[in-house]
Amino acid sequence: MTNRLKYSFGTTNNTADSSINDNDICAPGPSSHIDCLGPHLVRRLFSASKTVQIYNLNNRATQTALSKLMETLSELAEIEGRVTLTVVTDLLLINDVRVIVDSQSMSPVLYLIDEMRKRNVEEIDFAPEITAMELGSFLQQFFLDPSEEDVFGELNQRLAGARVKNIRLSEWIERTKYLRDAKVERRKIREESNKIMSRTILFMGEVMRAIEQRRPIQLPKAHRLTQQIADIIEIDESILLGLASIKNYDEYTFTHSVNVSVYSMLIADRMGLPKNEIAKIGVAALFHDLGKTRVPQSILNKPGTLTASEWKHMERHPMLGIIELFRVRSLRVIVDPLFVSLQHHLRYNGEGYPKKPGSWEMHPYIHMITIADIFDAMTTPRVYRKYTLTPDRALCFILNKGGEMFNPLVAKVFIKAMGIYPVGTVVELDNGENAVVVRQYEQTSLMHRPVVELLHEDGSHDEPVDLAEQVDNGTAYRRKIVRSIHGELFEAQKASCFIMK
Ligand SMILES: [Fe+2]
Ligand SMILES: [Fe+2]
Repeated sequence: MTNRLKYSFGTTNNTADSSINDNDICAPGPSSHIDCLGPHLVRRLFSASKTVQIYNLNNRATQTALSKLMETLSELAEIEGRVTLTVVTDLLLINDVRVIVDSQSMSPVLYLIDEMRKRNVEEIDFAPEITAMELGSFLQQFFLDPSEEDVFGELNQRLAGARVKNIRLSEWIERTKYLRDAKVERRKIREESNKIMSRTILFMGEVMRAIEQRRPIQLPKAHRLTQQIADIIEIDESILLGLASIKNYDEYTFTHSVNVSVYSMLIADRMGLPKNEIAKIGVAALFHDLGKTRVPQSILNKPGTLTASEWKHMERHPMLGIIELFRVRSLRVIVDPLFVSLQHHLRYNGEGYPKKPGSWEMHPYIHMITIADIFDAMTTPRVYRKYTLTPDRALCFILNKGGEMFNPLVAKVFIKAMGIYPVGTVVELDNGENAVVVRQYEQTSLMHRPVVELLHEDGSHDEPVDLAEQVDNGTAYRRKIVRSIHGELFEAQKASCFIMK
């Protein structure tokens, strides 16, 4: 196959397709293009997948099928920037819009849903740089018979071997029921926590790109991700908290939003809010700082103190966030994120910015998100912040500011959920060893005796040490924590305790 099939999205070729009749011709307009082009895409994907299963890539029939598929992909990508196919329960979505099933596209839609499920694929994301050759290789590999075990991992390996770089798959993450049925091994939770955190960070990267390219933000996807985070929090949040404690300096913008979302959902969970509400809080938290995308990097990352005019610019980010949120398709779903963006720098006593008119009610999510926001900010090193607080010191600060900066009741809920030494805190033990907290006890009496993993210079791992374990017939404890220490020097060893290899 030659390069003539290579597409740069943005060029539209209107070659006729015998499988599409005149009624399929799309009327232009922002609300109709997926409704109209979606069924085309699905039919052409179906047709190309069948063709590559019979003929090789150089065959004329294959090239024609791929060429038509590329046409529709490029047409959609020209409007949307990127094309993502997602399976949600029994529905197929393109860029979060449900594909309208007509008589012609019924079988192709059902076929694609079925084939994606068999391979544990929730989402197929086509990047604009894709070529017809790559698309052909992808279809060849994707539609091979799935293996019995690790079907998703094996498929990804084959795609990497076939040099497919511009099509990304997301793994189907089962909801709580699956975790429960599997009797919740810690390894499984670790795996799922790692997957969901990296997917949410990737998603925030996509959001930033969408803003830069003036494309709509996919809010339904944010909701699906936070629902999965809420599922894990309901069972065991310790790995999520460990991952949130790893400070990735280069990806601060994304990781901060994701961490604030996790901490906010943890508070919401402990306050006994219903699952759907917890996920909504998570979404609002993910987008709380969206306005910072409109603040110059030179101000955001300025090492020194901001000048008065720079500070004025910075103080506009809550309002700028509202403008960005209007890129979301449905106004109904952005009401809470709009309020959170606007109010997340307001304090409990009404101070902060933007200046609060007396008649303003604080949005209920704000009480959780402001605490989550400050906790992550205070424990993360930044160019403009010389000193960070250890997590336990940050909790002390939050406790002391209850009633002034923060809702005192919500502050207590957060501290109780995090423990005296939150997961991810680096501590010194009484025998001089350094360790990281990996698990907390819920009982108040054992909060100062969490489970830790010793940190070794060579990065090796021992079995976790339970500091609540007693020796000498229950008269003494094996070891105890002397103090918390700054974790920056131990970042790599600490990360290896939570990140899957
Ligand atoms: Fe902010
Ligand atoms: Fe923030």
